[in-house]
Amino acid sequence: MLPFSQFDPHGRLQHLITLEGLSSEQIRELLERAQHYLRAPGELPARSRALEGVTVGNIFTEPSTRTRSSFELAARRLGAEVINLEIQLSSRVKGETVLDTIYTLQAMAVDVFVIRDAEPGVGQFVAEHVQEHVSVLSAGEAHLSHPTQGLLDALTILQFKGGFRDLVVAVVGDVRHSRVARSAYQVFTALEVGELRIVAPEALMPDAGEMPEARRCSSLEAGIEHADVVMMLRIQKERMAAAAIPDAHDYFARWGLTRARLKLARPEAIVMHPGPMNREVEIASDVADGPHSVIRQQVTNGVAVRMAVLERIIANRNLRRSGR
Ligand code: CP
Repeated sequence: MLPFSQFDPHGRLQHLITLEGLSSEQIRELLERAQHYLRAPGELPARSRALEGVTVGNIFTEPSTRTRSSFELAARRLGAEVINLEIQLSSRVKGETVLDTIYTLQAMAVDVFVIRDAEPGVGQFVAEHVQEHVSVLSAGEAHLSHPTQGLLDALTILQFKGGFRDLVVAVVGDVRHSRVARSAYQVFTALEVGELRIVAPEALMPDAGEMPEARRCSSLEAGIEHADVVMMLRIQKERMAAAAIPDAHDYFARWGLTRARLKLARPEAIVMHPGPMNREVEIASDVADGPHSVIRQQVTNGVAVRMAVLERIIANRNLRRSGR
């Protein structure tokens, strides 16, 4: 059996499990297409028939507000049918295996599975077992990968900063347990961000050797000094032993992004957060809602990026079918 690849024999995306291995051209093409799907506030959302006849299945075994809603809206706005499997109401609770659930939905002509799971490897495992015309898109894999989040973060920076090469980008907080940080690292290194910093207390730093191109900063103040982009992360309590979870009050005192601390960054710095936020833990409310915050634009961009990814995946399938 060949080793797993998310690319088809022509090097085109069939699945999207990770951003690792995507060229900067492939990333830029997705970002450009996502821009095409953005509309000004108050305008009707962009629509197309690119996914007419396609069925998308959302299978989330971890909670989600942004990713699940935006994948559903993206698929519907492209003309797809969508089903959202309620795992707690599904036959998984009666002991059905992941693959039996997938095979069942595949037999109902689901073409694209959007999968979020707390277990590493589930997305790839499913991708290895679906039929050739079916695609699997990760909507968040354990602490490892959240590829469409990485793309929407890159799109947000592109909108506000116009490029990547001259920027100082600081990713701050629980980097160790964060799939958002890992996908951000992959997309920012592919796009050759000027300086990438990971800023975290020692216990929340990734292992030595991980993210080798990032500069490690063990103080918030040093980490955000002169930064153009400050990306705050939530403490991933669900991936930590209870005893290791920092006290929220102490954490905010040392690591919370306040207005006073933000003054250390560049005057025109943007503040990002993938959500969900824990206000007054990693970020002060007046920063989250303040003039530097682009957090809601990240959410808007999430729909556009997911439209671009779904459209690309189905276009690639059509190319394979036509022998091109
Ligand atoms: N950023 C993100 O993945 O948010 P949700 O958990 O709400 O999908």
